[in-house]
Amino acid sequence: MARIKIDLDRRIGTVDRRIFGGFIEHLGRCIYGGIFDEGSPLSDERGFRLDVVQALRDLRIPVLRWPGGNFASGYHWVDGIGPRDQRPRRMNLAWHIEESNRFGTDEFIAYCGLVGAEPYICVNLGSGTIDEAQAWVEYCNGTGHTYWANLRRQHGYPEPYGVKLWGLGNEMYGSWQIGALSAEDYVAKAREFAKVMRMTDPSIQLVSCGWNGWSDWDRVVLEGLARYVDYHSIHLYTGSPDYYGNVLSPHLADFALASCQALIDRVRYEQGIDHPIYVAYDEWNVWFRQWGYDASVAGLEERYTLADALAVATYLNIFIRRCRTVRLANLAQMVNVIAPIFTNPEGLFLQSIYHQFRLYSEWTLDVALDAFVEAETYHLSSEQEARSPWRHRVARLGPFTLVDAACTVNSTGEEITLAVVNRDLQRAVQATIEFVGTAVRPGALVREVNGPGPDASNSFDQPAIVSVSERALDTGGSTISYEFPAHSVTLIRFH
Ligand code: AHR
Repeated sequence: MARIKIDLDRRIGTVDRRIFGGFIEHLGRCIYGGIFDEGSPLSDERGFRLDVVQALRDLRIPVLRWPGGNFASGYHWVDGIGPRDQRPRRMNLAWHIEESNRFGTDEFIAYCGLVGAEPYICVNLGSGTIDEAQAWVEYCNGTGHTYWANLRRQHGYPEPYGVKLWGLGNEMYGSWQIGALSAEDYVAKAREFAKVMRMTDPSIQLVSCGWNGWSDWDRVVLEGLARYVDYHSIHLYTGSPDYYGNVLSPHLADFALASCQALIDRVRYEQGIDHPIYVAYDEWNVWFRQWGYDASVAGLEERYTLADALAVATYLNIFIRRCRTVRLANLAQMVNVIAPIFTNPEGLFLQSIYHQFRLYSEWTLDVALDAFVEAETYHLSSEQEARSPWRHRVARLGPFTLVDAACTVNSTGEEITLAVVNRDLQRAVQATIEFVGTAVRPGALVREVNGPGPDASNSFDQPAIVSVSERALDTGGSTISYEFPAHSVTLIRFH
């Protein structure tokens, strides 16, 4: 049994659609063989795989982060501009492969235009220089008759790209990162990058490189960079071979966002900072099978199950509920590499996580409501927790309700979307949905992501084992009874 209570007056805040952002990196077959496949009959004359473009368009990704990831910390962007045949072939040290540089800044911007996404570029704070970062902003956004702006024109792009979002490095705290730094050294370096990038284009928005949202790194970076940045990033993945460990560990994102908000509030108060600072949760996903950074897992071609889809839906519920904190998030990644879209030279299939990401992207409305949920709870054990390679201490954040919900409404209050994840492995949950001070009409639309079991997975041979079913709900009123099936994600659009 569960009880969900929806009160239109209990508004949390507006949901920024950019929480449905994506991320692509020069890693394995994400760009080459995924996004970009020159000479393929499935690609256009520029080399963009059109079947992938369509799948991404259907996801309605509002923003796309690039070029990494770990790759960003060794990437010299000038290698990737100009005539393709003259671009240097380099080692991609982060991912143990070769980089042809045939997909670079101009291709990325064109690709964003094709899929309808705003570009978000992460600069190289590892092996890159301040001049390179300055020149990159000038190449993209310059309007004057200066060298880099003119070079862009010379390459055939007269109009400035107007890239607003710029990341100040990727995971610079990590030993795996090229040019890793202490928090203090990162602050000193990033501050200088921020200054020249802003001098080049004062309208840009900057993202400081955060960790998990609660670490000392995050505190020091926020204290040092709050004046310069508009967003602070969080990277936090989860995943476990243990079913409940897997579907419940995204609650760590809730802890991360709450902790980071507290750090942001403190810094803004202490330093008297007027401008807002939001969280850019610019890498998130389920990732535990192809896990690590060594050459043996360099492809990171995770094959997703229904359980992973429930975890992804839980992340999205958390982002909606924490909409005042997180205004930008990027599913890592989009194609082949820990991704919802999986290609081969002949075509693609959509992984389980694609479907509910698309449902949320299509059906989430403007304003988040603080829905009340009463349901059975589940305690994770330390043995279950230990099965995850991430070693997150998520058990101590529980217990968690097996039913997790997020609710959004449009500005007039006439449309309501209720998103419910039933993480109970065995049992359907009979729920009462109560509306306070309003009633809904019969004919609500219901879409459900489900499959035969938690391990159900799509493939080229069986592309629809985990899929979406749709039906109409014939009841209305101020109290509705609904049965949420075991291991399911259900979105209901009420009118
Ligand atoms: O998305 C895969 C990798 O995960 C990224 O390159 C890095 O930023 C993170 O550790």
